[in-house]
Amino acid sequence: MQSLDYRNLIIAVASILIAGCEKPVSYSKDIRPILVANCLQCHDGKGEGSTASGFSVESYDSLIRGTKFGPVVVPGSAISSTLYLIVTDKVDPKIQMPPRHQESLAQGRGKSLHEVQVKNIELWIDQGARNN
Ligand code: HEC
Repeated sequence: MQSLDYRNLIIAVASILIAGCEKPVSYSKDIRPILVANCLQCHDGKGEGSTASGFSVESYDSLIRGTKFGPVVVPGSAISSTLYLIVTDKVDPKIQMPPRHQESLAQGRGKSLHEVQVKNIELWIDQGARNN
């Protein structure tokens, strides 16, 4: 009997941990504020980023539409999504966003996203990139 209780406890704790990791990420509460603070200044539909790439973070629809070459979000797969890759440090500094190669950094024109923000973008895309 005692060992059964112990097992239930482990299952309960594990479920709580899993539920904690899977917390739904909200576009409006979690993602949009990151994009507004770090990307909108250049990707507002007319800034230098939008002019160069066609990419605007103005609205959920423009975010999902992507660049003039196509979508940057693949709902359900962060690892296939340009949006996720370019905010991680895993890609060539030339294409990292916000622009953060040395020159930009020196001009104070870009800083890395916090790892929690990158994680939220990853989870949001993996959870389907919903307009939630
Ligand atoms: C200081 C201005 C600036 C900021 C801030 C900025 N971008 Fe950009 N972004 C650009 C420019 C300029 C380009 C075009 C780069 C090029 O074509 O070489 C670009 C291109 C892009 C592209 C297209 C890349 C491609 O390969 O087609 C995406 C996606 C993008 N930015 C996302 C973001 C995201 C997400 C953020 C915020 C985390 C951000 N940008 C912040 C200026 C900016």
